[in-house]
Order: sequence, then C-alpha cells, then structure tokens
Amino acid sequence: MTIRDIIYDTNIRFILSGGKGGVGKTSCAGAMAVLSADQGLRTLVISTDPAHSLSDSFDQSLAGGDIIAVEGFKNLWGMEINTQKGMKEFQQSLGTAGSGPEMEMATQLLGGVDGMSPPGSDEAMAFGKILEFIGDNSYDRVIFDTAPTGHTLKLLELPELLDSWLGKILTLKQRLGAMLSGVRAMFGTEGQEDNSWELLKQSKEKIRLARLELSDPQTTQFVVVMIPEAMALFETQRLLASLNNWHIPVSNLVVNQLVPPNPSCGFCDRRHKMQQRNMEDIRDMYHDLDIIEVPLFEDEIRGVDGLRKLGMILIGNKEDDAP
Ligand SMILES: Nc1ncnc2c1ncn2[C@@H]1O[C@H](COP(=O)(O)OP(=O)(O)OP(=O)(O)O)[C@@H](O)[C@H]1O
Ligand SMILES: [Mg+2]
Repeated sequence: MTIRDIIYDTNIRFILSGGKGGVGKTSCAGAMAVLSADQGLRTLVISTDPAHSLSDSFDQSLAGGDIIAVEGFKNLWGMEINTQKGMKEFQQSLGTAGSGPEMEMATQLLGGVDGMSPPGSDEAMAFGKILEFIGDNSYDRVIFDTAPTGHTLKLLELPELLDSWLGKILTLKQRLGAMLSGVRAMFGTEGQEDNSWELLKQSKEKIRLARLELSDPQTTQFVVVMIPEAMALFETQRLLASLNNWHIPVSNLVVNQLVPPNPSCGFCDRRHKMQQRNMEDIRDMYHDLDIIEVPLFEDEIRGVDGLRKLGMILIGNKEDDAP
C-alpha cells in the first residue's frame, strides 16, 4: 500500500507519522493532512510530541490543547496536545467520577508533586488522546504526529503495559473488595458509591479496542520517516522491529532530505554520494516496503502550500499536478 493508496483509501482512518528527531515527521503528518482534507475528508492532525512543531509547520497557532480549524479549510483541524491541561482535566474527571481513599491516592500519584507531572505522563496523555479519537467518529481521518522514536515506542507499549497493570489491579481489587467494604464500614463511608472498579474495566476495554484498530492494516498505517544517514538507519531498524512486534501496519518508508548531485559544489557532491551509498543499504534492507525519496528543498517546509508541495512528492505526483 503506497502513500497514494493510503491518502485515497477512505477506509484508512488513522495515519501515524514517526521516526528519529528532526527527520521530517511533522512535515509529513502535515502534508498527509492537507492532502486528506483536499479530498474532502474531515481531517484532524494531532501532535502527540510534547516538543510540538505542528504550529510552526502550519505557520499558524494550533497550541493550547484545543482543536483549532486550519485557516483556508472547512474540513481540516489541528491540535497540539497540552500535557498540563490534560492532567487537570483528568484529575477533575477523577474527582467527579469517584471518591474515597483509592481515588485520593490515584489523584496524588497522577498529579505528582507541586503541579509537576510524574514521569511518563506525556506518553500517557498522548496515548489517552489516541484512545479518545479512536472511539470518536466525528472525523473521517485522524493523523498523529508522534514523538521521536524512543517516546513513540513507549507509547506503543502502553496498551499492553496498562493491560497487564489493570489486569493485576482488577484482580487485586477483587480480592480486596471485601476488605475495603469492611474499612468503609469502620470509617462510616459505607454507602459511598465506588465506581473505580467500573472505570478500570472500561479503560481496559477501550485499550483492547484501540489495539484492534491500530493493528488493522485496512484502518491504520504507520508511515516511517528517516534521513539517509547511518545513525537514522539504526534507529529506523529498531522502530520497525518494535512496530512489527506490536502488529502496527507499516508499508511505507519516507527517506527525506536527499541532497541532489552538484558537480560544481564539492561539499554537496560528497553529501550526495554518502547519501546514495546509504540509499543502497536502505533499498536492500527494506525491499518489502514502499520507499519514497524526498529531496531537500531550498526552503523550510512551512505553511499549507509548502506542505501540499511535500504531499505531492509523497503520493508520487509532480509538484504542479492536481492531487
Ligand atoms: N525535504 C525537506 N527540505 C527542506 N526542509 C525540510 C525537509 N523536510 C523537513 N524540513 C525542515 O526540517 C525541519 C524539521 O522538520 P520536521 O519538524 O518535520 O521534523 P520532525 O521529525 O517533526 O522533527 P522533531 O523531531 O523535532 O519533531 C523543519 O524546519 C522542516 O521545515
Ligand atoms: Mg515534529
């Protein structure tokens, strides 16, 4: 399945863009979002990377954790998730969803100290957003711009980790159930409603469904982005191995920032030759993937026009062809 197929196949609801830092993940996510919207799909592009650059890429503020309409479109929205805001909302939801000693403990754990988020909460929040939009049919297509490789991997491991934690908690809670009600009776909070058990079961079910959606190649595609340099090659290999482990469908590899040959510039020519040697290895190693080569542009890729120009290359059109 090429990127062109992914863009035009309306069954594809989720596209994730990922790779090493600075290789062009956000630009590719933005480009695929613009092309999806150009086709009339109600499209949402979400940056789950705490170091956001979606606003810079679109040359418009998409910050603050709210869904914001992209200027010039009726069917394209963007959002940079906001960890602090997400945490507050989560705590509030806990506050109203439950009470009692377990909830107090959970709020404390999740809230961290002095308003600081505990480690891993960025990934948890990002994953929470993925869960939220998997269950939401208001968009025809949701594109996730993921954090550089390390973070993305953790995020993808979260479903199973949580699943196993929740599984343990559920069993524990079952065992402790009788004891807890005894404690409640002691403290006179016997009649208090406790729905944390239900909450945990629902989260587990949501994660199970998300894993099904994210591993279905007819619904989800992860587009891996890299640059033709040795360091990126190693990291890409690790990313692909993990995606494979988690059954996340991958059919495309974008090799970005290729320097064109230029005999009148020794520096450019050496870089070109180095990259071409790495390209041979890449083609060898990933012959089962569709490889899209993207040249290094003279300018940065900024704004909808720049993103559309990149998008045309991603789907194999010449710049001036209509999508
Ligand atoms: N083919 C290209 N030609 C020229 N500039 C490019 C190209 N691809 C990306 N860039 C520029 O490189 C910079 C990094 O791109 P981008 O933000 O898409 O990468 P990223 O992988 O999302 O980075 P980060 O890991 O920091 O989120 C941006 O300034 C972008 O405009
Ligand atoms: Mg980025």
